[in-house]
Amino acid sequence: MLIALLVTVVVVASLPWWLPARIVALRARVFARINGDEGIPVPGDLVGIDRFREVYAQPAAGGRSKGAALSDLFWYWLAPGPEMHQEHLEAGERYDAVARVTRGLLAVPRAEAEELTRRCVARTLGDARGLVRLRDLMMPLWAEFSYELVFAEPCPREARDLIAGNANDVVTALKGTGLRHMERRHRLTSYLRTRLSRVRLPLPPGLSPQEQAFYLQGAFFNTAVVQMSEAVAHLLMVLAQHPGVQDKARTGDARYLDQVIAETLRLYPLFGIAHRITTDGIPLDEHTTIPAGSVLCFNYPEFHRAGFADPGHFDPSRFDPARFNGPAKDLNHIPFGIAANRPCPAWRLAPITMRVAAAEILRRYTLHTSASHTRSLPNRGPCLLIPRDDPPRKVRGLLLYMRFRDRWEDVWRGVVQLVLGTYMVWDARRQRLCEHYFEENSYAHSGPGSGS
Ligand code: HEM
Repeated sequence: MLIALLVTVVVVASLPWWLPARIVALRARVFARINGDEGIPVPGDLVGIDRFREVYAQPAAGGRSKGAALSDLFWYWLAPGPEMHQEHLEAGERYDAVARVTRGLLAVPRAEAEELTRRCVARTLGDARGLVRLRDLMMPLWAEFSYELVFAEPCPREARDLIAGNANDVVTALKGTGLRHMERRHRLTSYLRTRLSRVRLPLPPGLSPQEQAFYLQGAFFNTAVVQMSEAVAHLLMVLAQHPGVQDKARTGDARYLDQVIAETLRLYPLFGIAHRITTDGIPLDEHTTIPAGSVLCFNYPEFHRAGFADPGHFDPSRFDPARFNGPAKDLNHIPFGIAANRPCPAWRLAPITMRVAAAEILRRYTLHTSASHTRSLPNRGPCLLIPRDDPPRKVRGLLLYMRFRDRWEDVWRGVVQLVLGTYMVWDARRQRLCEHYFEENSYAHSGPGSGS
């Protein structure tokens, strides 16, 4: 009896050390089972790391949605209006019109972008202090930033809450830590419809008002807010984990902060996998061709690890120009995608604003964390913020508490992700949003799988 009790205590107490990894492995098996493994992993047996860029850059690697079961899952997560999300539009007139407006809205002069970021930090941080979750802290900031980018006026409080609520819902579902709340997302669409005439540039022609609202919601109030919040949360996490780097970054050396940002996005790229559907065959050698209609899955974390010594180690000096020979563009580092194949339109603006946001936060706070830091950041970045003008205090106790809480949350979160993630993968396969859309609109689209 005593032995049984002892064994139970040991098993329960050791859960945080072994259960999360097993649940992750189980989740991967369940997802592969429901989703099928239709994709060709790159790098993989067919395409090695040495040809990663070349294949990604192929014009035939251009399909975005049509013909991949994986698209049903992304459309489900990004609904409503995934068919108008720039990331998932097939090449063509519609895509060109939408991409042009996105470029226009993001083409803000550097000084203006920096000033806007400063203002948004000041307005949204308020009296934040103590134990926070960095991703949650960042959402209102980037909600306000995106709003002002689109409407050129300060973001009212209720709009900020709507935008942050929507972005949070999308990212929570993407990580499998919560289900979708469509009413929350529809509320933002309805709000954006009332604001279309106030957008500071003409919206893409040929789109209905509903489609224009979906376009804005997808690019500026889902993707922009989620990506910026996650990127800066990762950046602040590494600064919190490396006090020496934090001190040096605080000195105001912009080039050093750029190296820290580059290394953060190398170790924690925001995209795990970006997929493309081939619109034509891609010959690899005289015997092998990737057939049209294949789903190529480009694995960012693997690409970012290859070609670097001790790739798991955080080392901003890898990006010190004095340390590497040859141009930076030859490094295995593509945080914003590949220039030849639909790269991120915010590749110029995002690093500028990340740098200012980090500098402003470092000016106000000292950051500490003892929580785990993984690429998908399901714990939302637990961090201790101490205002820099507070008298020095001991933080060890709080950090011990944070570590303990994080470990146990991991156990619970793993189970939640397994259950909710499995449900959403199943539900997305059942709804088949993407497949149905292309069936119903086959006359209007000739994406991959039809013309090849
Ligand atoms: C640090 C922040 C960001 C990172 C690291 C990032 C990363 C990326 C990457 C890697 C891609 C290409 C994926 C692929 O090849 O399929 C992408 C695409 C995209 N990103 Fe970003 N992104 C960031 C911020 C933003 C922001 C602020 C916006 C604002 C509108 C944005 C909008 C988009 C759009 C619309 C696409 C699709 C491009 C297309 O297919 O034409 N991103 N992003």
